[in-house]
Amino acid sequence: MKKLYIKTFGCQMNEYDSDKMADVLAQASLDHGDTMVKTERPEEADVILFNTCSVREKAQEKVFSDLGRVKELKRANPSLVIGVGGCVASQEGAAITKRAPYVDVVFGPQTLHRLPALIEARRTTGRPQVDISFPEIEKFDHLPPATVDGATAFVSIMEGCSKYCSFCVVPYTRGEEVSRGFEDVLTEVAGLAAQGVREVTLLGQNVNAYAAPMPRSDDATIDDDAADDDGRADFATLLEYVCEIPGIERVRYTTSHPKEFTPRLIDAYARLPKLVSHLHLPVQSGSDRILMAMKRGYTVLEYKSIVRRLRAVRPGLCLSTDLIVGFPGETEADFDATMKLIDDVGFDASYSFVYSPRPGTPAASLPDAVDAATKLARLRRVQDAIDTNAKRISDAMVGSPHRVLVEGAARRNTGERMGRTDNNRVVNFVGRAAVGSLIDIDVTGANAHTLRGALPADRPSRPAASHAGLEGIEAIVGPC
Ligand code: SAM
Ligand code: F3S
Repeated sequence: MKKLYIKTFGCQMNEYDSDKMADVLAQASLDHGDTMVKTERPEEADVILFNTCSVREKAQEKVFSDLGRVKELKRANPSLVIGVGGCVASQEGAAITKRAPYVDVVFGPQTLHRLPALIEARRTTGRPQVDISFPEIEKFDHLPPATVDGATAFVSIMEGCSKYCSFCVVPYTRGEEVSRGFEDVLTEVAGLAAQGVREVTLLGQNVNAYAAPMPRSDDATIDDDAADDDGRADFATLLEYVCEIPGIERVRYTTSHPKEFTPRLIDAYARLPKLVSHLHLPVQSGSDRILMAMKRGYTVLEYKSIVRRLRAVRPGLCLSTDLIVGFPGETEADFDATMKLIDDVGFDASYSFVYSPRPGTPAASLPDAVDAATKLARLRRVQDAIDTNAKRISDAMVGSPHRVLVEGAARRNTGERMGRTDNNRVVNFVGRAAVGSLIDIDVTGANAHTLRGALPADRPSRPAASHAGLEGIEAIVGPC
């Protein structure tokens, strides 16, 4: 039995890619009559992979310092395979093996499916292998079927990004937007549902840029009218079909972009009850001046208009977002506008960070007069305001029944169960409940990010409304 250690940096996309790396290596081992399992201990691994991220910070340096630590392991065990994947690999390529000659393979986000072949080539040639090309969607055709662990699963529907925000490296490291085949996505989701998955999260850098040819056939399950004039399905159509798959009870997605938030997608919230009442919609800043410098392609008013229309068709919708503070040239007035937007929308959670200049991006050459302490103080104010909103929303849920999807044991107390509400809150409760069941839980207490709940037990329970307590969310978090 071979052992694999993977260290993952960065976002959910990277977590997903790491799972796929484990899947392809496990499959390749099986094909050779062997097995490969994951280990948490690098010192007992036969293969060590770093799946890197370069969106923020000095990621390159972090990777090299981690590599320095495993160098000794390679010295002790020359057959150990060391690989570097992800966005740093994509940016640095052969520079990695030059600086760290004990690295055996370097591969990008779009070539992870070639990992077994790269490792084999390393073995037969005796030379390190580097493949950071963008062979478009080939990756999806070469991945083994997803392995299921629990009631929820991620499904990648598109790769890359073509938006070129002035601060971001992703279009350079992951390539342009490419959508996965329509039937391919539906087949994967149906396969997951058949294995007990009840909730899928559709993944991509900009899922609402999704556009893929719809198969034209006599197959009555595919409705030709759902395609656009070019015969392609958009994201709203994909959602509609995913929601139709038997066994799938909830559909989430991340990340969407405000620029492509079409009326059809807004309308999907009116038509598709399986689409959850939680949306992660990155805004980045509340100042039009900064949004323009970031090349985001929308104004604050346009963003708020999307939120207003969404909440008109889906009362109680909770929103999380991405925010960058301290973008070059951000004034106190720009920052105040961001704080105002946080109040207006009532964001429930955020991935918020201080701007980090990324080599090769246009913003990296902009003059930046704001000092580090001011940027950190702004970040703290942003996060405090969002935590306050989150607590207000949680408090409003106390005293009502909420439907949760039971995911397993509670994280802190494994004697308890944990379920997730439609609006993405963890509820811990005592009692029996099967993983994958959708049950109504009385919410009895609230922290900012988790709730306490109780099974309705022997007394009659009011049926859970999907957003009990949150119908007038504007009154709870702010007028948008
Ligand atoms: N597709 C998403 C969108 O619509 O904005 C974003 C995906 S991006 C990989 C994830 C987040 O990383 C961004 O939303 C942004 O907040 C953050 N990010 C990207 N580049 C950054 C930088 N140079 N400094 C700080 N944060 C950054
Ligand atoms: Fe990055 Fe902007 Fe795309 S933040 S991932 S370039 S939408």
